[in-house]
This record gives sequence, structure tokens and C-alpha cells, in this order.
Amino acid sequence: MFGSTSVSATTRSGRRSPAEGAVYRALIRPLLYLLPAETAHHLAFACLRLVAAIPGVRRLMRRWFHEDDGALRVRALGLDFPNPIGLAAGFDKDAVGYEALGALGFGFVEVGTVTGQAQPGNPKPRLFRLPKDRALVNRMGFNNRGSAAASLRLRGPRDTIVGVNIGKTKIVPEEEAIGDYVASAKRLGPHADYLVVNVSSPNTPGLRNLQSTEKLRPLLVAVREALNEVSPARPVPLLVKIAPDLADEDVDAVADLALDLGLDGIVATNTTIGRDGLASNADDVERCGAGGLSGPPVRERSIEVLQRLRARLGDRLVLISVGGIESPEHAWERIEAGATLVQIYTALIYEGPMLPTRLARGVAKLAREHA
Ligand SMILES: Cc1cc2nc3c(=O)[nH]c(=O)nc-3n(C[C@H](O)[C@H](O)[C@H](O)COP(=O)(O)O)c2cc1C
Repeated sequence: MFGSTSVSATTRSGRRSPAEGAVYRALIRPLLYLLPAETAHHLAFACLRLVAAIPGVRRLMRRWFHEDDGALRVRALGLDFPNPIGLAAGFDKDAVGYEALGALGFGFVEVGTVTGQAQPGNPKPRLFRLPKDRALVNRMGFNNRGSAAASLRLRGPRDTIVGVNIGKTKIVPEEEAIGDYVASAKRLGPHADYLVVNVSSPNTPGLRNLQSTEKLRPLLVAVREALNEVSPARPVPLLVKIAPDLADEDVDAVADLALDLGLDGIVATNTTIGRDGLASNADDVERCGAGGLSGPPVRERSIEVLQRLRARLGDRLVLISVGGIESPEHAWERIEAGATLVQIYTALIYEGPMLPTRLARGVAKLAREHA
């Protein structure tokens, strides 16, 4: 699947030691754990953006963190990805830090979910850690400043490949959902390297009903038309993001629909509403309340969905696999199971900012071993 397996470029792996991840785990993570999870997220993200805004630093970060290795390159969606490890949607909801995140070594960054209108999201607290499972539970509810504001921040040239993930504004009734998605697609399509229609977050009432093919078909047709209208010269790749909680037949139905409509790919999967098989004690799980569970507990189902989609689709369509990836072996397992690209979110919180580089470096090694 890798665009080029000839190892033409040099790797700079030797400059870094595994101890760098240990510093995060031993020193920084315990400090961040003293804060509520959402505050810790905002603080860490703000620090990263601040550092990356110092003149010249972002370029240095890119050189330092990016694993420049020909074995990692992927050609997909008409784009040249420097490596297949992406940041999943939800971390940079407002597209305020994609260049800083890209400089950390990600091959691409998916921003959003962005909705048609600005909205505050659910009341806090709405993000919880389950450390025994290395998992998170969130019911953020698409807190974001809306697609008009995000479009301003996505204008102009950039160094990072940016996918844009769009969803429905909470107060917009389900019958008017298409208009809300179309408004966002028109504003954001011209600035997106690819666009994802998110119908799979558990925290917007009714959103996941849009995964049924009779509702999904007109939605995707309308978004495709909107993209063609605003970006006639460059067809914007269109993908749909699905939940791990879909029944197998429904996964197949989405795959068939994606083929029928000529979609470019599928992102699988979002968080789960399930709580099975957790190591955390029941009280801790109960305290989190409702929301989407992410991290290792979603891994198995995420792999199953990927395998099912790839079996159904053959070589056609790009598959972005996400859910519970923590190590190069996990990422490689997805690639072997048919993922074109992979994404992480929860593991970044537990492992820290060296993780993208570590994953890319490990995947390059595995790619060579399996060449
Ligand atoms: C705090 C948090 C917020 C998220 N927000 C979004 C979102 O806005 N849109 C979306 O499509 N997925 C969102 N996700 C889901 C992730 O993109 C990803 O699909 C899921 O967490 C599984 O990957 P992981 O196990 O690597 O975290 C969010 C996940 C977390 C943990």
C-alpha cells in the first residue's frame, strides 16, 4: 500500500531515544492528570501552539519530528501523505493548531467536527479518563465555533495535509440536517484536502440515525453536489465516518452505498456507546456517565469493521482506520488488514507528543521487514 517502498530518503531515528516518551509519562502526564481532562487538553494544546508560533520553531519541529522515510509515503485521495499516521477528528475542533500538530510528525490532521453554526457543546464536565483501560469517555457534543469561522483559518497555503470533518448543529432538526451539512461543505470544501461527513458521534441526539442508508444517501449526494459546485476544478475527496456500534449488515450497507455514490473512502471508526469488558471499576465507569468510549476498548471492533469493509470493497476506496491504535504493531496490523491510512487520538493523551514519530518510525521498520 505504500506509495514508494524504495528507501530513498534518510531516517533521522537515531537522534531520538525511547526515553523521550518516558519523560512525558513520568513527569508531564502526572501533572496534567492533576487537572480535569478537558483543561489538561486545552493547556497542552495551547502550549504546543505557543511553542510552534515562535519564529523558526515549527520548521525545526518538522525536521526533528517528521520521519522522512520513503517507505512511509502513501499516495491516496490524490494526495501525497508523508506517512500514514494521522490525528483523528476531535482534537483540533476549530482548526486552530493543525500546523503545530502536523509539525509533531503526523502525516495528516483531521480537524473538526465543525458544524454549520457555532455551538458550546454539552455542559462540563464532559471528558473523562479511564486510566486502567487507557481509555477516554467524552460527551463533548461538537463544541466549536462553526464552519464560517473554521473556513477563515483554513485559507492559504500550508505544510500539513488537513482533512475537515463536518457534523450537524445540535439545534437544527434532523429533517433539516442536509442543509446544515451542505452549508459547511460549501464553506469548507474549497479549503479541505478531504472532507468527512460525520454521522457517527454519539453525543448529538439523532445524529447516528443518519447512518441508515435511506437518510445517508440523500445527505451524501447533496454534500457531493455542494463540493462540486464550490470546487469544480479540484474534486474534493469525500469520505463518511461510521460508528463501531453499527451492525455488520449496516456496515456492509454503508460500503455498498459508498461504492454506489462514488465516494472516496470511509473512516472507521468513531467512539462506542458500549461499556463491555472494561478493566476500570464499575463506579469509575458510572461516574463518567453517557458518552463515547475510545482507546483500547474499541480496538477489536474497529479492526472487525475495517476487515469487513475491505472484504466488501476489494481494492476500491480509501479506508482510514481509527480506534485503539497505540503502537506501531497496532498501526501495521491495520495496514495489513487493508487500511490505507490510520489515525489516533486517545493514545496521544496517554503516550504524549512523541507518539506520532514513534509510530511512524516503527511502521517504517515493519514495512521494511515485510517488503
Ligand atoms: C475527546 C474526544 C473528542 C472527539 N471528538 C470527535 C469529533 O468531534 N468528531 C469525530 O468524528 N470524532 C471525534 N472523536 C473520535 C475520534 O476521532 C476517534 O474516532 C475515536 O476516539 C477512536 O480513536 P482512538 O481510540 O484512537 O481515540 C473524539 C474522540 C475523543 C476522545
